[in-house]
Amino acid sequence: MALITKKIKGTEDVLPKQSYRWQFIENIMREESRAYGFREIRTPVFEHTELFARGVGQTTDVVQKEMYTFDTKGGESVTLRPEGTAGAARAVLEHALENEGLPIKASYFVSCYRYEKPQAGRLREFHQFGIEEYGTQSPLADAEVICLAQSVLDRLGLGDVRLEINSIGCPTCRAKYNEALRAYFSQYQDQLCPTCLTRLEKNPMRLLDCKSPEDHKIAEGAPKITDYLCEECEDHFGEVKRYLDSAGVAYTVNPTIVRGLDYYTKTVFEFITDSIGAQGTVCGGGRYDGLIEELGGKHLPSLGFAMGLERLLMVMDAQGVEIPQPEPCALYIATMGDAAKVKAFSLLSRVRACGLTAETDVVGRGLRAQMKYADKIGAAYSVVLGDNEIAENKAKVKNMNSGEQTELALDDTFAEKFSVLTLTDKTAFKI
Ligand code: HAM
Repeated sequence: MALITKKIKGTEDVLPKQSYRWQFIENIMREESRAYGFREIRTPVFEHTELFARGVGQTTDVVQKEMYTFDTKGGESVTLRPEGTAGAARAVLEHALENEGLPIKASYFVSCYRYEKPQAGRLREFHQFGIEEYGTQSPLADAEVICLAQSVLDRLGLGDVRLEINSIGCPTCRAKYNEALRAYFSQYQDQLCPTCLTRLEKNPMRLLDCKSPEDHKIAEGAPKITDYLCEECEDHFGEVKRYLDSAGVAYTVNPTIVRGLDYYTKTVFEFITDSIGAQGTVCGGGRYDGLIEELGGKHLPSLGFAMGLERLLMVMDAQGVEIPQPEPCALYIATMGDAAKVKAFSLLSRVRACGLTAETDVVGRGLRAQMKYADKIGAAYSVVLGDNEIAENKAKVKNMNSGEQTELALDDTFAEKFSVLTLTDKTAFKI
């Protein structure tokens, strides 16, 4: 039978020797989001297609071109989530979380699926860490959410990441702005890509983030939303900036940021780096005051962001940020004979119960090969158990780095004494 050894284009494997890098950044994200009062939400990887069509928006690239949509055997149209916001909003609505008190603060780790053209930093399956906050219209919440993203990026040790913010207004200011955009882009009708032509009537703001280079050039001269903000949106944006200033968070206002998803209102922001080429946006987010209503709920002004984990790891690599290696195996028990195997098995579980990594031979290797393996996995200490050790009920634990040996009884005190040894003599650990 032919081997199936090729992953699907635009997907990536995370192998056992790389996963500590993911865990490192995920732990920081968990800690920081907890510090800001967010608790994790987990939602299904697929949802009714309608959720994304309505939530993310019919005229977005994501919905028009990039969704993995299929009919189930029951004839339902479902879609692999292209992002985390719509699913989280659906869950908030479905479980009426607003009854538990506002604001609702949720964080998540999700895999996302977009049928985009794969390139460095752009995948078809990628992973996001995100947070969403529901039930606040205060600009303080905008600033707080941005500060949380900044804290995560700071703790990851990233330099050269800039924060760009903008306000894209509310439906009131958007109406006037859309008129101005229609008037502007109508002059270039013969040069616009077919998708943008269809967007011109329905949602002209989408023309501003078209990926076609020609349309992008035309978009550069388009009217700017910041000149069309209503008083309320202008004030809100002013307050967000004031809070960011007071927290010492550096930003630039970039009036061309409109984001690629339709639900945004008022504040939008992106954290961007030049370290990894064209796909340099590591985090994007903003306010979406109308989404919950759009999905059938009541008015629940909300906001959030998501960061791309693959992109963050790329930036950390590009910038030479060191990710601490996990502690290797603390104890390898090499065995000779059946009695030793049984003894090892009982010792191991006790050592492991002390929170240490411990291993023994499970493939039937000879002693030399077992010791070679212990070396290969970087075991800090090793012990050889044979008939003599079992008979005497004691064995020598060897520091694999210095060769120094410490005799320990093979009784109930072994695990605890070994644990103390690892704490007092760190020279054995090669990290
Ligand atoms: P987004 O800007 O589409 O926003 O994605 C957020 C982040 O996910 C991007 O900044 C990027 O780091 C990463 N990302 C997006 N597409 C890809 C891809 N094809 N390959 C690798 N990484 C990618 C959202 O998804 C919104 N739901 C964010 C949000 C949450 N807004 C409010 N709440």
